[in-house]
Amino acid sequence: MTQEKNILIRKATEIDIPIVMEINMRSLPENYWYGFYLHILKNWPETFFVAEVDGKLVGYAMTRIETSSDLVLLGLDNEFEKRDNVRSLINTLLDPIKSFLAKGYYGKVGHLVSIAVLEEYRRRGIGSRLLEKSIRISKEIYDAESMYLEVRITNKPAIRLYEKYGFRKARIIKRYYMDGEDAYVMVKRLKNIPTFSSKK
Ligand SMILES: CC(C)(COP(=O)(O)OP(=O)(O)OC[C@H]1O[C@@H](n2cnc3c(N)ncnc32)[C@H](O)[C@@H]1OP(=O)(O)O)[C@@H](O)C(=O)NCCC(=O)NCCS
Repeated sequence: MTQEKNILIRKATEIDIPIVMEINMRSLPENYWYGFYLHILKNWPETFFVAEVDGKLVGYAMTRIETSSDLVLLGLDNEFEKRDNVRSLINTLLDPIKSFLAKGYYGKVGHLVSIAVLEEYRRRGIGSRLLEKSIRISKEIYDAESMYLEVRITNKPAIRLYEKYGFRKARIIKRYYMDGEDAYVMVKRLKNIPTFSSKK
């Protein structure tokens, strides 16, 4: 990987949205309307980043902070590993206990909604820098306990990137995408496991 020195990762502003939309259109089949970007920017301004190279916008990452009681999204359970893992039996036996302990437990989770880098700027560490910052700020500023995302099961570059930063496949959502492709839900736990005595 060539590390580029003149990469700037900064918080997005409203003025950046049209270019972010263009990068998104050129990189992904999942496209959104202006108001969607604006909503994320207004509500979670600290976790909407853009990447600049020599003053040109070449990438972005946007994260929404949600509250969830879903143990998978909280990074406390892993449905995907259960399917084909030797530990599956133990996990299955522990399930009712875990659910009982976690009843009513809510935590903040960072949802990486979208990340993309223009094709001609890929493999230079830009995606990594955007992801790294999204993880750090979700934890430090928004107090997120975990971070999750959906990714097409065939999107090897993205899956590799996420695995490099500690995300694990945790669930499959069948036909999640408009064209019928399945998604992996990938999750990274950001904090120590709660005791469940501190219900929120
Ligand atoms: C996924 C994406 C954001 C990665 O951005 P990037 O700037 O190229 O990422 P980096 O250069 O930081 O790469 C980090 C790691 O990701 C993995 N990776 C990235 N591109 C890869 C590729 N084409 N093949 C295999 N692994 C790849 C590698 O592990 C890489 O580390 P390495 O270069 O040390 O081997 C970029 O490919 C992209 O914009 N794709 C289209 C949009 C998309 O799919 N977004 C994700 C939707 S869930």
